[in-house]
Amino acid sequence: MDAKVILVTGANSGIGAGIVLHLVRIGYRKIAILARRESMLQQVANDCEGIAPCEILILPKNLLDESACHQAVEDTVDHFGRLDVVISNAGGGSGAAKVRDKCVSDFRHTLDLNVIAPFLITKAALPHLEKTKGNILYVSSIAGTQTVHNYSDYCSAKAALNHFARNVASEEAAKGVRANVLAPGVIVTEGQTHGSSSEQAFDVVRQNLRKYQPLGRVGEIVEMAKLAAFIVSDDNRFMTGSIITADGGVCVDYKPSL
Ligand SMILES: NC(=O)c1ccc[n+]([C@@H]2O[C@H](COP(=O)([O-])OP(=O)(O)OC[C@H]3O[C@@H](n4cnc5c(N)ncnc54)[C@H](OP(=O)(O)O)[C@@H]3O)[C@@H](O)[C@H]2O)c1
Ligand SMILES: *[C@@H]1O[C@H](CO)[C@@H](O)[C@H](O)[C@H]1NC(C)=O
Repeated sequence: MDAKVILVTGANSGIGAGIVLHLVRIGYRKIAILARRESMLQQVANDCEGIAPCEILILPKNLLDESACHQAVEDTVDHFGRLDVVISNAGGGSGAAKVRDKCVSDFRHTLDLNVIAPFLITKAALPHLEKTKGNILYVSSIAGTQTVHNYSDYCSAKAALNHFARNVASEEAAKGVRANVLAPGVIVTEGQTHGSSSEQAFDVVRQNLRKYQPLGRVGEIVEMAKLAAFIVSDDNRFMTGSIITADGGVCVDYKPSL
């Protein structure tokens, strides 16, 4: 486990940062972390080093920049000498608007971040993952299978990401490379609080959204982190092309007007 090298995108906040901290907690020691805001990446690296001695490579890059996606993978391999796992987690939507009001630049931006960037990272990573019989985990959303009013761009992008991941799994199985998807429901992150990371803002999300949750509560970052860590682990080597939903029961009791 301590020899494995993992690249995580969107790693300075929310689910991505939670995954990185958990990976260090359970014994991974070599992780490359990518996002745009460098000081927040540095904070995650410091937090990791506070948990255990580890080597965290910071990659302050914009995934909307085509060459940055390729470079991120090359920087990781140059630094650590190998690549075992990619967790393509960065993502998100544009503002809320009905289809008839949504502007094309917002729609394109959402596709670029949630589909094109994971494609570019994947394309760069596959030759390295083939050598280690590694795997890729894409963080999608239940929005990839359920409609959400005002978020047609995000739903379409996550649906495309799900199907892209299944194509990667299919094409790469013969090379021993696996690809899976984690589809979270509502998770309390900065993505749900317009960037705030105060416990108070998180509690507002927990209280406001619990009524839509069959299990009576929203999800927590650490729950996604533990699940992601299992999916990419050597204990899970028979899984590929799977979409793993963890949503408190929202999809089995879905009300599309919400
Ligand atoms: N929270 C939920 O309820 C929920 C539910 C289902 C699925 N998801 C999915 O889970 C993933 C993580 O979301 P989250 O809730 O943890 O959100 P978050 O806290 O807002 O994190 C988003 C991450 O993506 C990075 N990012 C955004 N644009 C980027 C770009 N152009 N280049 C590089 N990095 C970029 C951000 O860092 P910088 O801004 O510094 O670049 C940040 O690290 C996303 O794919 C999201 O769609 C979330
Ligand atoms: C969708 O967004 C519009 C504003 O563009 C808002 O008036 C409406 O309440 C939103 N609908 C839902 C279901 O959130």
